[in-house]
Formats: sequence, structure tokens, C-alpha cells
Amino acid sequence: MKKNILIILISVFVLSSCKEDPPIDEKLTTTPYKIEIPEYFPKIILNPQNPMTVEGFELGRKLYYDPILSNDGRSCASCHDQKYSFTTYASNALVHVNLAWNTNFLWNGHVSGTMEDIMMFEVGDFFKTDISKINNSNEYRQLFKKAYNVSQITQKDIAYALAQFFRARVSYNSKFDKFLRGETDLTPSELNGYILFTTEKGDCFHCHTLPLTSDNQFRNIGLDSIYDSNNSGRYEVTHKSFDKGKFKVPTLRNIELSAPYMHDGRFQTLAQVIEFYNSGVKVSSTIDPIMTKPGKEYGLKLTSKEKSDLINFLKTFTDTTYINNKAFSKP
Ligand code: HEC
Ligand code: HEC
Repeated sequence: MKKNILIILISVFVLSSCKEDPPIDEKLTTTPYKIEIPEYFPKIILNPQNPMTVEGFELGRKLYYDPILSNDGRSCASCHDQKYSFTTYASNALVHVNLAWNTNFLWNGHVSGTMEDIMMFEVGDFFKTDISKINNSNEYRQLFKKAYNVSQITQKDIAYALAQFFRARVSYNSKFDKFLRGETDLTPSELNGYILFTTEKGDCFHCHTLPLTSDNQFRNIGLDSIYDSNNSGRYEVTHKSFDKGKFKVPTLRNIELSAPYMHDGRFQTLAQVIEFYNSGVKVSSTIDPIMTKPGKEYGLKLTSKEKSDLINFLKTFTDTTYINNKAFSKP
């Protein structure tokens, strides 16, 4: 009797140890990657299918800077430059910052879902990446083997690695963050801008929700009142007439670095943006109700001091730690 139990125990042990020990060359030894997130941020959206690893992040970073992904010698970074918070000076590219909290991507939300979904679009539809080039590279074969334990690299593997690099790029060291953490004071002008931003007077906070500065919705702020294929925004995706003129509420983090402004880059300076909100809003049937609230019929009626206070506050979103972070630069 005792002997039988012993045999059973031994065979269970042998069986289970077989199961847990794959052949040496199949073993995936990755190092978990910890994303730095301040406690006052909402919960980050992670993807259990693509857990963050040092190997995956570094691979995504390398791919981002490598023209091998495109068929015309461009890398992602050629249009998304770290100096300008990963946008390009003089283009309407959206800044890449804290994108891990987004579920809608591109100005009209053409892609929705996870960071992996938007990367599948960038690699598959936008760049139409020729994966044979990547599969022919010894170096990439080794790096993908290490990060994802794959021998045949697919567009999905590339998108997943890029998604890790995107998810890790969190900006949380602007003057505004330091103010929230009690590490610095705002100047009287910045503080007044903050009050204007977060109260009914300026009324920015309903859409540019703090601390991330976007509510992840689509809204029409009244830039135009007549729509065609260049400015109908969300309508291009849904074909619902109530979506005409609606665009993704963009983050305002690092906004000082990302001129020109709006989906079509129509404003060159923050002063022009503020003047638009102050006196340039055009009414149409799809305009956001916040823009035409009672009291706003004649615009925000800001004094010139209030306008510069708002601009000074917007500049507290600039995060020089982020744009100089070597962990995000070209490897
Ligand atoms: C030719 C310039 C250019 C290149 C190259 C480029 N992008 Fe972009 N990217 C843009 C522009 C412009 C937009 C905004 C377009 C829009 O919303 O319709 C954008 C938007 C995005 C967005 C959406 C951001 C948001 O807030 O919704 C992501 C993510 C992105 N790009 C990632 C990439 C990746 C990854 C690559 C490389 C595979 C890449 N881009 C290559 C110009 C470029
Ligand atoms: C009803 C929602 C809403 C309100 C209120 C609002 N915004 Fe916006 N904001 C948006 C949307 C949507 C866009 C993009 C519009 C577009 O390109 O068509 C935008 C764009 C911007 C931009 C340009 C961003 C870029 O990347 O080009 C700045 C700067 C800005 N807003 C600042 C403010 C300030 C300051 C206030 C308060 C005075 C404010 N916003 C109030 C929704 C809003």
C-alpha cells in the first residue's frame, strides 16, 4: 500500500516536472518591465496578451527608429521626433505621450481598441511593412526569438513590440505634475491660468480632463460650420451625420512643442488657439453643447492678461525630462 502511494507520488512528480521544463532552446527568459506611473493617474490599460518585458520594449524602440519597417526609407521617428514630443515640427501629427490610456487613435478615430490594434494599422496598413526584410535579418531573428520566442516573425510580432515601446512612454514630470505632487509652486499667472482652465470661465477641463488632459472622446469645437471630406472628422468613420466636425480631443501635454495646432494645423501659435476659443467659435448643428453654454454667446470674453495666463498655464505641461529621456531615444 505505502509502496504504491510512493510510486504514484514519484510518477506525478516526474510528469509535472516534465511539463514545466521545456527543452532548453525553447525556454523564454524575459525580464519584466515596470512602467513608471504616478499615483494620481488613472489606471493604465495593459494587454495581458502582451506583457511588458525589457526585451519587448527594447525591440519596439529599435524598430521605431529603423527605416527597415517602411518601403521608402522612412522610420516612424522620421515623423515622430522626440525633441517635439514625438511629433514633427510643422505637421499635424498628434504628440505621442501617455497613449497607453487611449482607446481611440488618429484624429478621426479611424482605429479604436488597444495599443496593439493601432500598431497593427501602422505596420500593416500605413507602412505595409515587408516582413521578409525583417525575417532576413539575423539580428532581428535573434531579438524576436528572445522577446517573443518566435522563429517566423509576423506583422503581429512587430506591432506587439512597437506597442510595448508606446505603452511605456509616460510623461509625468512636467511643472504641472511637480505642482500636483507639491514639489513646486506655480507663478501667480500660471495659477490664474489653472483656475481659468478648471472653472466655467475658461471651461477647458470638461474635454481636456486632468491629469491626462483628454477625455478620450470626439467633439466638435466649432472650428468650421460647413463640412466636407477634409474637416468632417469622425463622420468619415461612422457616416452618422451627428459626427460631422468631431475630432479626437487631443492631449495638451507638451503642447508648447507641437505647433501647428488642430487636426489641419490651421493655427501656428497657442495665442491663436486661445483667441479662437475666446472669439472664433462657429456654431453648427453638431457643435458640442459645452461650446454654446449660456453665457458663451459672445465668446469667453477673456482679458488680454487672462489669455496670457492661460498660455502660461498650458506651458506648465511641457515635460523636458520626457523629451530628453535617453531610454526613449534612438538606441
Ligand atoms: C509621414 C509621416 C509619418 C510617419 C512616417 C509615421 N507617422 Fe504616425 N502619424 C503621422 C500623422 C500626420 C498622424 C496624425 C494622422 C491622423 O490622425 O490622421 C500620425 C498619428 C499616429 C498615431 C496616433 C496618435 C494618436 O494620438 O491617436 C500613432 C500611434 C502613430 N502615428 C504611430 C506611428 C508609428 C508606429 C509609425 C511607424 C510604423 C508612424 N506613426 C509613422 C505621421 C507619420
Ligand atoms: C468641447 C470640448 C473642448 C473644450 C471645452 C476645449 N477643447 Fe481644446 N480641443 C478639443 C478638441 C476636440 C480639439 C481638436 C479639434 C480639431 O482639431 O478639430 C482641441 C484642440 C485644442 C488645442 C490644440 C491641440 C493640438 O494638438 O493641436 C489646444 C491647445 C486646446 N484645445 C486648448 C484648449 C483650451 C485652452 C481650452 C479652454 C479655453 C479648450 N481647449 C477647450 C476639445 C475641447
